[in-house]
Amino acid sequence: MHSYSATAQAHPNIAFIKYWGNRDNALRLPSNGSISMNLEGLFTRTTVSFQPSLPFDELIINGHAVMGKGLERVSYILDLVREQAGIKMNAEVMSENNFPAGAGIASSAAAFAALALASSKAAGLELSEAELSRLARRGSGSASRSIPTGFVEWHMGSGDGDCVAVSIAPPDHWDLADCVAIINASHKKTGSTEGHALAWTSPLQAGRVADASRRLEICREAILQKDFKSFADILELDSDMMHAVMMTSNPPLMYWQAATVDIFHAVREWRADGLPCAYTVDAGANVHVICPRDQAGAVEKKLRELPGVRDVLVARVGGPARIV
Ligand code: PMV
Repeated sequence: MHSYSATAQAHPNIAFIKYWGNRDNALRLPSNGSISMNLEGLFTRTTVSFQPSLPFDELIINGHAVMGKGLERVSYILDLVREQAGIKMNAEVMSENNFPAGAGIASSAAAFAALALASSKAAGLELSEAELSRLARRGSGSASRSIPTGFVEWHMGSGDGDCVAVSIAPPDHWDLADCVAIINASHKKTGSTEGHALAWTSPLQAGRVADASRRLEICREAILQKDFKSFADILELDSDMMHAVMMTSNPPLMYWQAATVDIFHAVREWRADGLPCAYTVDAGANVHVICPRDQAGAVEKKLRELPGVRDVLVARVGGPARIV
């Protein structure tokens, strides 16, 4: 007898070519494709159990009951699963992150990837990787990229059916590390769901999107060839282009702090001095410095010496979402 319960685990990911703006906000169909790597060592673990006695869905994150918008977003994914599986039971969803909230690591990617896998499995569905990526995408676009392993490309596709992420190389293909410099940034930021909806108010978004397939090609090739020089240039260009769109949207979004920009200058200096490293920033102030893993100790040490850097997390390339 099927137990209607399953536990899954997924890693967050860091985008090298960024997703910013949708062509369909409801379906989360992105305006451009994106490329990322999963972050080993950091994960969300989620247990979903469908129970006939529950009067409504329940969500518990790190031991705290969550209601309102957070619960609605989870129920939206559960509804898609219930519809496909032909079941009507409500579910209890228990989720834990092993990385601190507010550490500048987007938790929604890992969270919705783990939820998609755990809930579909609990409902008795055996979804393919592409189907799981599609389902995770409906909760958070970047979550589609936390389903496959290692280095991942999310194709914009022609519609809902082929708008999925696929692995372009396994974790051991290229031994990179992400050194996340956490800086002091207290003010509340605009979340990515609201941010995506503003992207097209920037006059720069059209140029950014029109040039995306060129950047994707360069980044994909740099990964396949393990060409750090070419990778570093396209990584920083793409991050800067996304932030240019953010800063020029209406209302404008300014995620950078002074310490963010100080790290950009330092990273470029270190690179000019022969240390392979490059920066990228998501919808926050913290800076992800990507480097070959054998340089991560040196990069971490240098980052910690910078004023304004509060902590540094180091993550290697991670594997796929999986049932535990
Ligand atoms: O998946 P969302 O809606 O949280 O959007 C992620 C947006 C960025 O992190 C800024 C870029 C990306 O591609 O991950």
